[in-house]
Amino acid sequence: MCGIVGYVGEQQALEVVLGGLRRLEYRGYDSAGVAILSGSDLLVERKAGKLANLEKAISEKELAGTLGIGHTRWATHGPPTDRNAHPHQDCAGKVAVVHNGTIENFEVLVRGLEERGHARRSDTDTEVVAHLVEERYDGDLAATVRSICKDLEGSFVLVVAHQDEPDLVVAARRNLPLVIGLGDGENFVGSDVTAFIAHTREARAVDQDQVVEVRRSGVVVTDLGGTVVDGETYHVDWDTAAAEKGGHEFFMLKEIEEQPAAVRETLGGRMQEDGLLHLDELSMSDDDIRQIEQVVIIACGSSYHSGLVGKYAIERWCRLPVQVEMASEFRYRDPVVGRSTLVIAISQSGETADTLEALRHARAQKAWVLAVTNTVGSTVSREADAVFYTRGGPEVAVASTKAVMAQLAAVYVVGLYLAQVRGTRDTDEVRAHLADLLEMPDLIQEVLDRMGPVRQLARELQDAERVLFLGRHVGYPMALEGALKLKELAYISAEGFPAGEIKHGPIALIEEGTPVVVLAPRHALQAKLVNNVQEVRARGARTIVIATDGDESVTPYADTVIRIPDTKSLLTPLLTIVPMQVLSAEIARARGLDVDQPRNLAKSVTVE
Ligand code: G6P
Repeated sequence: MCGIVGYVGEQQALEVVLGGLRRLEYRGYDSAGVAILSGSDLLVERKAGKLANLEKAISEKELAGTLGIGHTRWATHGPPTDRNAHPHQDCAGKVAVVHNGTIENFEVLVRGLEERGHARRSDTDTEVVAHLVEERYDGDLAATVRSICKDLEGSFVLVVAHQDEPDLVVAARRNLPLVIGLGDGENFVGSDVTAFIAHTREARAVDQDQVVEVRRSGVVVTDLGGTVVDGETYHVDWDTAAAEKGGHEFFMLKEIEEQPAAVRETLGGRMQEDGLLHLDELSMSDDDIRQIEQVVIIACGSSYHSGLVGKYAIERWCRLPVQVEMASEFRYRDPVVGRSTLVIAISQSGETADTLEALRHARAQKAWVLAVTNTVGSTVSREADAVFYTRGGPEVAVASTKAVMAQLAAVYVVGLYLAQVRGTRDTDEVRAHLADLLEMPDLIQEVLDRMGPVRQLARELQDAERVLFLGRHVGYPMALEGALKLKELAYISAEGFPAGEIKHGPIALIEEGTPVVVLAPRHALQAKLVNNVQEVRARGARTIVIATDGDESVTPYADTVIRIPDTKSLLTPLLTIVPMQVLSAEIARARGLDVDQPRNLAKSVTVE
């Protein structure tokens, strides 16, 4: 949470920094601010609220200069006010600091600074860094930041500019994401590559406790002792246009439309000519794969729901026990994992603190950790034993859609590969399942092409106070995902249940007219689902049923039927998820809410 960006080059820094912040705003939107070195003055502007507020506030101002830093905030210490917006400054106004993370020992540091005569101007932990730079700066900003980092506890990415350093931005990292963008006569730092993707595709990762000196001519990275360290540079092949709205009112609506392509990309290049899978990226020998005794999937939010679908697929195809655990709970219950455990950590951003800590715990127990992530160079990808990239492309809307879709494709592919190597499914069956998967992008497109009635339904449901989602088998995780989407986007109380559980309590929630969305694509449990639809309708529910083309078994009990094409039952999440995404987004839009940036949320949650 919190997006940070730094730039030194030949262009007007304000434009570059604001462009980066626009793309990083998904990380938090409680306030935004910039500092631009203009001649010998460090000009700081900051404003509570979304970036648009800042842009409005500075539209008439002169902020010319080719060195700048910027921040978009998700508040931790201190309310989201102008006063607490970053950048923060020292007493003399010569230093500007932006920060992502929390400095856990800031109160001790504040006391010391106050005793030494510094006046505090905000409620933030960040401000201490500006005052410490003021105290310790002796002409070498990087050395100053290194010395300060040694005294900080907690997690941080810091970006610091100093009025006396016209060609230097210094950044430092502990536990949170920081990426360097390498340009020609200009260089960048950002929370992720979208911060600078409009200017360069060459990136370099920054490791734990490293300090980056960014100058026009180049970048130097050192450890906290000041020793220069090498690092891996990589090319980012995300399309810049993919990080733009492309004519849509909201990123999310565009990202929903991009889902067939996301699945195509995720599947692409992973199959051999003989129709079987080829997954070198797992970095596991066939023997290692045969020795797996259990699979544990760790993830948060929507990624957790992808993991639940993975459980159904892997258990079915591989005959391996699979547990799916919310990453925030995993390490605190002393989980039983070891050398014969394959841990799959699923994270769109690859930066979620809960998932990262769970991954570290699993590795410490000697489990083999496979990261399934959308973000090349992310911390999760770098700390795992192996990485499967989902290739969904940049996702900007806070609520995840195409990235989840790509994760679903990924868990099917990983599951089938394990089955192929372990021999639990014969090669003809693996080929047949892969052929089914390859058809899914077209079927997802078909669902997208039919969303007119769902938009109409959204208008009818916009004033609902509560909506329930029911599903069985793989429909159950998708019911959870449907409910999560509606909560996060439309702020409507929504819950997902296994349809068979409803009679054990949740049915008491149903009143006359309560909308109940039932995921009832054709599969083995169809008859039981039809019963469940009848049960809730008998209690007055307004039933909205997602059903397979041609299946009339539910129509007598459905107030609204949403049709999806036929596919294998295990693969139905790739289709049932789409109408629920569209429904939530359209209800949010009908209620006049910000679809891309729902209140209180952040896309990448880097605090536990
Ligand atoms: C946040 C986002 C969710 C996302 C979750 C996990 O809560 O709002 O949309 O599913 O984090 O994120 P990850 O990047 O680890 O998949």
